[in-house]
Amino acid sequence: MQELFFIISLLMCMATLGWSRSYPGTMPYNVMNFGAVGNGVTDDSQAFIKAWNAVCGDTSNNPTLQVPQGKTFLLQPTSFQGPCKSSNLQVQIEGNLIAPEGPSSWKGKDRRSWLYFANVNGFTVNGNGEIDGQGSQWWKLCSDALVFEKCTSFQVSGLKHINSQKNHISLDNCQDATLSNLHISAPESSPNTDGIDISASQNIHILNSNIATGDDCIAINTGSSQINVTGLTCGPGHGISIGSLGKQGEAAAVEEVHVKNCTLNATQNGLRIKTWQGGSGYARKITFNDITLTDVDNPIIIDQFYCPHEQCSNETNAVKISDVSYTGIHGTSITQDAIALNCSRTVGCDNIVLEHIHIASSNSKEGTYSTCINAHGKCDDSVPSVGCLK
Ligand SMILES: *[C@@H]1O[C@H](CO)[C@@H](O)[C@H](O)[C@H]1NC(C)=O
Ligand SMILES: *[C@@H]1O[C@H](CO)[C@@H](O)[C@H](O)[C@H]1NC(C)=O
Ligand SMILES: *[C@@H]1O[C@H](CO)[C@@H](O)[C@H](O)[C@H]1NC(C)=O
Ligand SMILES: *[C@@H]1O[C@H](CO)[C@@H](O)[C@H](O)[C@H]1NC(C)=O
Ligand SMILES: *[C@@H]1O[C@H](CO)[C@@H](O)[C@H](O)[C@H]1NC(C)=O
Repeated sequence: MQELFFIISLLMCMATLGWSRSYPGTMPYNVMNFGAVGNGVTDDSQAFIKAWNAVCGDTSNNPTLQVPQGKTFLLQPTSFQGPCKSSNLQVQIEGNLIAPEGPSSWKGKDRRSWLYFANVNGFTVNGNGEIDGQGSQWWKLCSDALVFEKCTSFQVSGLKHINSQKNHISLDNCQDATLSNLHISAPESSPNTDGIDISASQNIHILNSNIATGDDCIAINTGSSQINVTGLTCGPGHGISIGSLGKQGEAAAVEEVHVKNCTLNATQNGLRIKTWQGGSGYARKITFNDITLTDVDNPIIIDQFYCPHEQCSNETNAVKISDVSYTGIHGTSITQDAIALNCSRTVGCDNIVLEHIHIASSNSKEGTYSTCINAHGKCDDSVPSVGCLK
Protein backbone atom coordinates (compact mmCIF):
# COMPACT_ATOMS: atom_id res chain seq x y z
CA MET A 1 0.00 0.00 0.00
CA GLN A 2 2.70 2.37 1.00
CA GLU A 3 4.63 1.47 -2.12
CA LEU A 4 1.64 2.08 -4.33
CA PHE A 5 1.11 5.47 -2.70
CA PHE A 6 4.75 6.25 -3.30
CA ILE A 7 4.56 5.33 -6.95
CA ILE A 8 1.42 7.40 -7.45
CA SER A 9 2.90 10.45 -5.78
CA LEU A 10 6.06 10.02 -7.80
CA LEU A 11 4.05 9.93 -11.01
CA MET A 12 2.06 13.01 -9.97
CA CYS A 13 5.22 14.78 -9.09
CA MET A 14 6.77 13.87 -12.42
CA ALA A 15 3.71 15.12 -14.23
CA THR A 16 3.65 18.47 -12.43
CA LEU A 17 7.30 19.07 -13.10
CA GLY A 18 6.98 18.09 -16.75
CA TRP A 19 9.53 15.52 -15.82
CA SER A 20 10.02 13.80 -19.12
CA ARG A 21 10.72 17.12 -20.81
CA SER A 22 12.94 18.96 -18.32
CA TYR A 23 14.72 16.02 -16.77
CA PRO A 24 15.57 13.44 -19.36
CA GLY A 25 17.41 11.43 -16.73
CA THR A 26 16.01 11.39 -13.23
CA MET A 27 14.53 13.87 -10.83
CA PRO A 28 17.06 16.32 -9.45
CA TYR A 29 18.41 15.42 -6.05
CA ASN A 30 17.35 18.36 -3.95
CA VAL A 31 19.40 18.59 -0.75
CA MET A 32 16.16 19.42 1.12
CA ASN A 33 15.00 15.86 0.44
CA PHE A 34 18.11 14.56 2.16
CA GLY A 35 17.49 16.40 5.39
CA ALA A 36 19.05 19.80 4.75
CA VAL A 37 17.45 22.63 6.70
CA GLY A 38 18.87 25.70 4.99
CA ASN A 39 18.43 28.15 7.84
CA GLY A 40 22.09 29.20 7.93
CA VAL A 41 22.50 27.80 11.44
CA THR A 42 21.94 24.04 11.32
CA ASP A 43 24.86 22.01 10.01
CA ASP A 44 23.73 20.69 6.62
CA SER A 45 26.96 18.87 5.73
CA GLN A 46 25.55 15.35 6.15
CA ALA A 47 22.54 16.11 3.97
CA PHE A 48 24.85 17.38 1.24
CA ILE A 49 27.01 14.27 1.46
CA LYS A 50 23.95 11.99 1.24
CA ALA A 51 22.63 13.91 -1.75
CA TRP A 52 26.06 13.82 -3.37
CA ASN A 53 26.35 10.06 -2.88
CA ALA A 54 22.97 9.61 -4.55
CA VAL A 55 23.89 11.79 -7.51
CA CYS A 56 27.33 10.28 -7.80
CA GLY A 57 25.93 6.75 -7.88
CA ASP A 58 23.22 7.59 -10.42
CA THR A 59 23.84 5.93 -13.78
CA SER A 60 21.41 8.11 -15.73
CA ASN A 61 22.50 10.60 -18.30
CA ASN A 62 22.31 13.83 -16.38
CA PRO A 63 21.88 13.49 -12.61
CA THR A 64 21.56 16.81 -10.81
CA LEU A 65 22.31 17.86 -7.27
CA GLN A 66 20.14 20.82 -6.48
CA VAL A 67 20.76 23.47 -3.85
CA PRO A 68 17.53 25.48 -3.84
CA GLN A 69 17.23 29.20 -4.01
CA GLY A 70 16.23 31.41 -1.07
CA LYS A 71 17.99 29.33 1.57
CA THR A 72 21.36 29.42 3.26
CA PHE A 73 23.18 26.21 4.01
CA LEU A 74 25.87 25.98 6.66
CA LEU A 75 28.55 23.50 5.67
CA GLN A 76 31.52 22.15 7.59
CA PRO A 77 34.53 21.12 5.49
CA THR A 78 32.89 18.71 3.06
CA SER A 79 34.30 16.31 0.45
CA PHE A 80 32.53 15.50 -2.78
CA GLN A 81 34.40 12.41 -3.89
CA GLY A 82 34.33 10.61 -7.19
CA PRO A 83 34.61 8.72 -9.37
CA CYS A 84 30.91 8.95 -10.18
CA LYS A 85 28.79 6.78 -12.46
CA SER A 86 27.69 9.59 -14.79
CA SER A 87 30.11 11.74 -16.72
CA ASN A 88 27.54 14.48 -17.11
CA LEU A 89 26.76 15.34 -13.54
CA GLN A 90 25.35 18.70 -12.49
CA VAL A 91 25.64 20.61 -9.27
CA GLN A 92 23.17 23.45 -9.35
CA ILE A 93 23.78 26.00 -6.63
CA GLU A 94 20.92 28.50 -6.46
CA GLY A 95 20.97 28.92 -2.70
CA ASN A 96 23.80 30.23 -0.55
CA LEU A 97 26.54 28.21 1.09
CA ILE A 98 28.29 29.51 4.18
CA ALA A 99 31.20 28.24 6.23
CA PRO A 100 31.08 28.07 10.02
CA GLU A 101 32.05 31.38 11.46
CA GLY A 102 34.84 30.85 13.95
CA PRO A 103 37.71 28.45 14.53
CA SER A 104 35.89 26.75 17.42
CA SER A 105 33.04 25.66 15.19
CA TRP A 106 35.19 24.30 12.37
CA LYS A 107 34.74 20.58 12.86
CA GLY A 108 36.63 19.19 9.88
CA LYS A 109 39.96 17.67 10.65
CA ASP A 110 41.45 18.66 7.34
CA ARG A 111 41.71 22.40 7.37
CA ARG A 112 43.23 22.74 3.93
CA SER A 113 39.94 23.00 2.13
CA TRP A 114 36.32 23.77 2.78
CA LEU A 115 34.42 22.41 -0.24
CA TYR A 116 36.55 19.71 -1.82
CA PHE A 117 35.80 17.93 -5.11
CA ALA A 118 38.15 15.06 -5.94
CA ASN A 119 38.37 12.44 -8.69
CA VAL A 120 35.22 13.60 -10.46
CA ASN A 121 35.13 13.41 -14.24
CA GLY A 122 32.58 15.22 -16.37
CA PHE A 123 30.49 17.67 -14.38
CA THR A 124 29.16 21.19 -14.12
CA VAL A 125 28.90 23.42 -11.07
CA ASN A 126 26.68 26.41 -11.77
CA GLY A 127 23.90 28.64 -10.51
CA ASN A 128 23.35 32.08 -9.07
CA GLY A 129 24.13 31.08 -5.51
CA GLU A 130 26.70 32.70 -3.32
CA ILE A 131 29.55 30.85 -1.67
CA ASP A 132 30.63 32.68 1.47
CA GLY A 133 33.78 31.44 3.15
CA GLN A 134 33.26 33.84 6.07
CA GLY A 135 36.98 34.24 5.77
CA SER A 136 37.81 37.02 8.18
CA GLN A 137 38.04 34.53 11.05
CA TRP A 138 40.07 32.22 8.88
CA TRP A 139 42.60 34.31 7.11
CA LYS A 140 45.14 33.18 9.67
CA LEU A 141 44.34 29.48 9.39
CA CYS A 142 44.67 29.01 5.68
CA SER A 143 41.94 26.99 4.05
CA ASP A 144 41.08 27.11 0.38
CA ALA A 145 37.36 27.51 -0.18
CA LEU A 146 36.48 25.55 -3.30
CA VAL A 147 39.02 22.93 -4.34
CA PHE A 148 39.06 20.67 -7.38
CA GLU A 149 41.68 17.95 -7.24
CA LYS A 150 42.23 15.27 -9.91
CA CYS A 151 39.06 16.32 -11.71
CA THR A 152 38.60 16.33 -15.49
CA SER A 153 36.17 17.74 -18.06
CA PHE A 154 34.25 20.18 -15.93
CA GLN A 155 32.73 23.61 -15.94
CA VAL A 156 32.16 26.08 -13.16
CA SER A 157 30.01 29.08 -13.96
CA GLY A 158 27.85 31.87 -12.64
CA LEU A 159 28.71 31.61 -8.99
CA LYS A 160 29.36 34.46 -6.63
CA HIS A 161 32.15 33.74 -4.28
CA ILE A 162 33.06 35.92 -1.35
CA ASN A 163 35.47 36.07 1.57
CA SER A 164 37.34 32.86 1.16
CA GLN A 165 39.51 31.59 3.99
CA LYS A 166 42.47 31.42 1.62
CA ASN A 167 42.37 30.76 -2.13
CA HIS A 168 38.82 31.08 -3.43
CA ILE A 169 39.11 28.43 -6.09
CA SER A 170 42.01 25.99 -6.45
CA LEU A 171 42.61 23.55 -9.27
CA ASP A 172 45.19 20.90 -8.58
CA ASN A 173 45.99 18.09 -11.01
CA CYS A 174 42.96 18.86 -13.18
CA GLN A 175 42.40 18.70 -16.94
CA ASP A 176 39.96 20.24 -19.41
CA ALA A 177 38.03 22.77 -17.35
CA THR A 178 36.23 26.01 -18.12
CA LEU A 179 35.53 28.54 -15.39
CA SER A 180 33.31 31.37 -16.54
CA ASN A 181 31.12 34.23 -15.38
CA LEU A 182 32.41 34.05 -11.84
CA HIS A 183 32.36 36.92 -9.37
CA ILE A 184 34.95 36.56 -6.69
CA SER A 185 35.53 39.13 -4.00
CA ALA A 186 37.33 39.57 -0.70
CA PRO A 187 38.68 42.70 0.97
CA GLU A 188 41.85 44.18 -0.49
CA SER A 189 43.48 43.79 2.93
CA SER A 190 42.79 40.05 3.31
CA PRO A 191 45.99 37.96 3.17
CA ASN A 192 46.55 35.09 0.67
CA THR A 193 43.08 35.25 -0.77
CA ASP A 194 44.01 34.37 -4.34
CA GLY A 195 41.08 34.35 -6.73
CA ILE A 196 41.88 31.28 -8.80
CA ASP A 197 44.97 29.21 -8.18
CA ILE A 198 46.02 26.66 -10.79
CA SER A 199 48.61 23.94 -10.13
CA ALA A 200 49.70 20.93 -12.19
CA SER A 201 46.71 21.34 -14.49
CA GLN A 202 46.27 21.38 -18.26
CA ASN A 203 43.80 22.84 -20.72
CA ILE A 204 42.07 25.24 -18.36
CA HIS A 205 40.04 28.23 -19.55
CA ILE A 206 38.99 31.16 -17.46
CA LEU A 207 36.46 33.39 -19.18
CA ASN A 208 34.55 36.59 -18.53
CA SER A 209 34.98 36.77 -14.79
CA ASN A 210 35.45 39.43 -12.20
CA ILE A 211 37.96 38.99 -9.40
CA ALA A 212 38.72 41.45 -6.60
CA THR A 213 40.73 40.10 -3.68
CA GLY A 214 43.66 40.68 -1.37
CA ASP A 215 46.14 38.58 -3.38
CA ASP A 216 46.65 37.32 -6.93
CA CYS A 217 43.53 37.34 -9.11
CA ILE A 218 44.98 34.36 -10.95
CA ALA A 219 48.07 32.42 -9.91
CA ILE A 220 49.53 29.79 -12.23
CA ASN A 221 51.89 27.33 -10.62
CA THR A 222 54.21 24.58 -11.73
CA GLY A 223 53.03 21.69 -13.88
CA SER A 224 50.46 23.87 -15.65
CA SER A 225 50.09 24.23 -19.41
CA GLN A 226 47.49 25.36 -21.93
CA ILE A 227 45.95 27.89 -19.61
CA ASN A 228 43.83 30.58 -21.31
CA VAL A 229 42.53 33.58 -19.42
CA THR A 230 40.15 35.78 -21.42
CA GLY A 231 37.83 38.64 -20.49
CA LEU A 232 38.95 38.88 -16.87
CA THR A 233 38.47 42.02 -14.83
CA CYS A 234 40.91 42.02 -11.94
CA GLY A 235 41.29 44.45 -9.07
CA PRO A 236 41.94 45.22 -6.38
CA GLY A 237 44.45 42.44 -5.88
CA HIS A 238 47.92 41.44 -6.97
CA GLY A 239 47.23 40.92 -10.65
CA ILE A 240 47.85 37.90 -12.85
CA SER A 241 50.83 35.92 -11.69
CA ILE A 242 52.83 33.04 -13.07
CA GLY A 243 54.66 31.62 -10.10
CA SER A 244 56.34 31.95 -7.90
CA LEU A 245 58.20 29.03 -9.48
CA GLY A 246 61.28 27.11 -8.41
CA LYS A 247 61.13 27.57 -4.67
CA GLN A 248 63.80 25.65 -2.75
CA GLY A 249 65.49 24.42 -5.90
CA GLU A 250 62.33 22.89 -7.38
CA ALA A 251 62.24 22.16 -11.14
CA ALA A 252 59.38 24.19 -12.56
CA ALA A 253 57.41 23.60 -15.77
CA VAL A 254 54.86 26.09 -17.06
CA GLU A 255 54.03 26.63 -20.71
CA GLU A 256 51.35 27.76 -23.13
CA VAL A 257 49.70 30.40 -20.99
CA HIS A 258 47.61 32.92 -22.94
CA VAL A 259 46.10 35.96 -21.29
CA LYS A 260 43.87 38.04 -23.51
CA ASN A 261 41.36 40.90 -23.35
CA CYS A 262 41.72 41.54 -19.64
CA THR A 263 41.40 44.66 -17.49
CA LEU A 264 43.47 45.32 -14.41
CA ASN A 265 42.24 48.07 -12.12
CA ALA A 266 44.29 49.36 -9.17
CA THR A 267 46.21 46.13 -8.72
CA GLN A 268 49.51 45.89 -6.89
CA ASN A 269 51.11 44.10 -9.85
CA GLY A 270 49.90 43.66 -13.37
CA LEU A 271 51.33 40.82 -15.43
CA ARG A 272 54.00 39.06 -13.42
CA ILE A 273 56.32 36.11 -13.93
CA LYS A 274 58.15 35.36 -10.73
CA THR A 275 60.80 32.68 -10.21
CA TRP A 276 62.95 31.93 -7.17
CA GLN A 277 66.68 32.05 -7.14
CA GLY A 278 68.12 28.53 -7.24
CA GLY A 279 65.21 26.91 -9.11
CA SER A 280 65.42 25.11 -12.45
CA GLY A 281 63.11 24.14 -15.32
CA TYR A 282 61.18 26.62 -17.43
CA ALA A 283 58.35 29.08 -17.94
CA ARG A 284 57.82 29.56 -21.68
CA LYS A 285 55.37 30.21 -24.53
CA ILE A 286 53.42 32.83 -22.65
CA THR A 287 51.38 35.58 -24.33
CA PHE A 288 49.66 38.67 -22.98
CA ASN A 289 47.36 40.39 -25.50
CA ASP A 290 45.01 43.37 -25.32
CA ILE A 291 45.34 44.29 -21.68
CA THR A 292 43.97 47.51 -20.20
CA LEU A 293 45.62 48.89 -17.07
CA THR A 294 44.18 51.49 -14.71
CA ASP A 295 46.43 52.74 -11.90
CA VAL A 296 48.39 49.52 -11.66
CA ASP A 297 51.39 49.55 -9.36
CA ASN A 298 53.91 47.48 -11.36
CA PRO A 299 52.34 46.69 -14.74
CA ILE A 300 54.89 44.34 -16.35
CA ILE A 301 57.30 42.34 -14.24
CA ILE A 302 59.65 39.48 -14.89
CA ASP A 303 61.59 38.70 -11.75
CA GLN A 304 64.00 35.82 -12.06
CA PHE A 305 65.73 36.73 -8.79
CA TYR A 306 62.75 36.34 -6.50
CA CYS A 307 63.83 35.93 -2.90
CA PRO A 308 61.53 37.87 -0.62
CA HIS A 309 63.10 37.16 2.70
CA GLU A 310 66.72 37.57 1.64
CA GLN A 311 67.70 34.06 2.69
CA CYS A 312 69.14 33.28 -0.74
CA SER A 313 72.89 33.25 -1.21
CA ASN A 314 73.42 34.51 -4.76
CA GLU A 315 72.30 31.30 -6.44
CA THR A 316 73.36 30.96 -10.06
CA ASN A 317 70.56 28.56 -11.01
CA ALA A 318 67.21 29.91 -12.10
CA VAL A 319 64.05 28.88 -13.91
CA LYS A 320 64.56 29.60 -17.62
CA ILE A 321 62.09 32.17 -18.98
CA SER A 322 61.58 32.29 -22.76
CA ASP A 323 59.14 33.03 -25.56
CA VAL A 324 57.07 35.59 -23.71
CA SER A 325 55.18 38.23 -25.66
CA TYR A 326 53.29 41.32 -24.59
CA THR A 327 51.12 42.88 -27.30
CA GLY A 328 48.69 45.76 -26.96
CA ILE A 329 49.20 46.63 -23.33
CA HIS A 330 47.92 50.09 -22.50
CA GLY A 331 46.88 52.25 -19.60
CA THR A 332 48.36 53.83 -16.52
CA SER A 333 50.91 52.93 -13.89
CA ILE A 334 51.14 54.24 -10.33
CA THR A 335 54.90 53.69 -10.19
CA GLN A 336 57.13 55.19 -12.85
CA ASP A 337 58.94 51.83 -13.20
CA ALA A 338 56.28 50.44 -15.53
CA ILE A 339 58.26 47.59 -17.06
CA ALA A 340 60.82 45.58 -15.09
CA LEU A 341 62.57 42.68 -16.78
CA ASN A 342 64.97 41.44 -14.13
CA CYS A 343 66.70 38.31 -15.33
CA SER A 344 69.67 36.43 -13.94
CA ARG A 345 73.12 36.78 -15.45
CA THR A 346 73.69 33.05 -15.85
CA VAL A 347 70.29 31.84 -17.10
CA GLY A 348 68.61 34.97 -18.44
CA CYS A 349 65.37 35.49 -20.35
CA ASP A 350 65.17 34.79 -24.11
CA ASN A 351 62.85 35.84 -26.87
CA ILE A 352 60.93 38.40 -24.84
CA VAL A 353 58.82 40.45 -27.25
CA LEU A 354 57.04 43.71 -26.49
CA GLU A 355 54.86 45.34 -29.15
CA HIS A 356 52.35 48.16 -29.05
CA ILE A 357 52.82 49.02 -25.42
CA HIS A 358 51.66 52.32 -24.06
CA ILE A 359 51.88 52.74 -20.31
CA ALA A 360 51.64 56.28 -19.01
CA SER A 361 52.04 57.42 -15.45
CA SER A 362 48.87 57.85 -13.41
CA ASN A 363 50.38 61.14 -12.38
CA SER A 364 50.25 63.14 -15.60
CA LYS A 365 53.32 65.17 -14.64
CA GLU A 366 55.63 62.15 -14.61
CA GLY A 367 56.88 59.80 -17.28
CA THR A 368 57.39 56.05 -17.05
CA TYR A 369 60.57 54.05 -17.52
CA SER A 370 61.71 50.46 -17.74
CA THR A 371 64.46 48.39 -16.17
CA CYS A 372 65.91 45.56 -18.16
CA ILE A 373 68.65 43.20 -17.00
CA ASN A 374 69.82 40.14 -18.98
CA ALA A 375 66.66 39.98 -21.09
CA HIS A 376 66.91 39.29 -24.82
CA GLY A 377 64.34 39.70 -27.55
CA LYS A 378 62.73 42.63 -29.27
CA CYS A 379 60.71 45.67 -28.54
CA ASP A 380 58.66 47.59 -31.06
CA ASP A 381 56.38 50.60 -30.52
CA SER A 382 56.70 50.74 -26.76
CA VAL A 383 56.30 53.52 -24.21
CA PRO A 384 58.34 53.29 -22.12
CA SER A 385 60.99 51.84 -24.40
CA VAL A 386 62.95 48.87 -23.18
CA GLY A 387 66.67 49.38 -23.56
CA CYS A 388 68.09 45.89 -23.48
CA LEU A 389 65.70 44.46 -26.10
CA LYS A 390 66.57 45.25 -29.71
C1 LIG B 1 44.04 29.48 -26.10
O1 LIG B 1 44.73 30.62 -26.57
C2 LIG B 1 45.57 30.37 -27.69
C3 LIG B 1 46.32 31.66 -28.02
O2 LIG B 1 45.43 32.74 -28.17
C4 LIG B 1 44.75 29.88 -28.86
O3 LIG B 1 45.60 29.54 -29.92
C5 LIG B 1 43.97 28.64 -28.43
O4 LIG B 1 43.11 28.24 -29.48
C6 LIG B 1 43.14 28.95 -27.19
N1 LIG B 1 42.44 27.75 -26.80
C7 LIG B 1 41.12 27.72 -26.67
C8 LIG B 1 40.53 26.37 -26.39
O5 LIG B 1 40.43 28.71 -26.74
C1 LIG C 1 36.52 41.22 -23.69
O1 LIG C 1 36.15 40.99 -22.34
C2 LIG C 1 34.91 41.55 -21.97
C3 LIG C 1 34.69 41.25 -20.50
O2 LIG C 1 35.63 41.95 -19.73
C4 LIG C 1 33.80 40.93 -22.81
O3 LIG C 1 32.57 41.53 -22.49
C5 LIG C 1 34.12 41.17 -24.28
O4 LIG C 1 33.16 40.53 -25.07
C6 LIG C 1 35.49 40.62 -24.63
N1 LIG C 1 35.84 41.00 -26.00
C7 LIG C 1 36.38 40.11 -26.84
C8 LIG C 1 36.72 40.64 -28.21
O5 LIG C 1 36.62 38.97 -26.54
C1 LIG D 1 38.50 50.85 -10.61
O1 LIG D 1 38.26 50.56 -9.25
C2 LIG D 1 37.76 51.69 -8.57
C3 LIG D 1 37.75 51.38 -7.07
O2 LIG D 1 37.61 50.02 -6.81
C4 LIG D 1 36.39 51.99 -9.12
O3 LIG D 1 35.81 53.07 -8.44
C5 LIG D 1 36.52 52.32 -10.61
O4 LIG D 1 35.26 52.52 -11.18
C6 LIG D 1 37.22 51.22 -11.33
N1 LIG D 1 37.58 51.68 -12.67
C7 LIG D 1 37.37 50.97 -13.76
C8 LIG D 1 37.85 51.55 -15.04
O5 LIG D 1 36.82 49.87 -13.71
C1 LIG E 1 75.72 38.40 -3.23
O1 LIG E 1 76.37 39.18 -4.22
C2 LIG E 1 76.48 40.57 -3.90
C3 LIG E 1 77.05 41.32 -5.10
O2 LIG E 1 77.92 40.50 -5.86
C4 LIG E 1 77.33 40.72 -2.65
O3 LIG E 1 77.42 42.08 -2.30
C5 LIG E 1 76.67 39.95 -1.51
O4 LIG E 1 77.49 39.99 -0.37
C6 LIG E 1 76.44 38.48 -1.90
N1 LIG E 1 75.64 37.84 -0.87
C7 LIG E 1 75.91 36.61 -0.40
C8 LIG E 1 74.98 36.11 0.68
O5 LIG E 1 76.82 35.93 -0.82
C1 LIG F 1 64.48 45.09 -10.87
O1 LIG F 1 65.83 45.37 -10.68
C2 LIG F 1 66.09 46.76 -10.35
C3 LIG F 1 67.57 46.94 -10.33
O2 LIG F 1 68.20 45.95 -9.56
C4 LIG F 1 65.43 47.06 -9.02
O3 LIG F 1 65.62 48.40 -8.69
C5 LIG F 1 63.94 46.78 -9.13
O4 LIG F 1 63.32 46.95 -7.87
C6 LIG F 1 63.68 45.37 -9.60
N1 LIG F 1 62.26 45.26 -9.86
C7 LIG F 1 61.58 44.18 -9.51
C8 LIG F 1 60.14 44.22 -9.83
O5 LIG F 1 62.08 43.20 -8.98
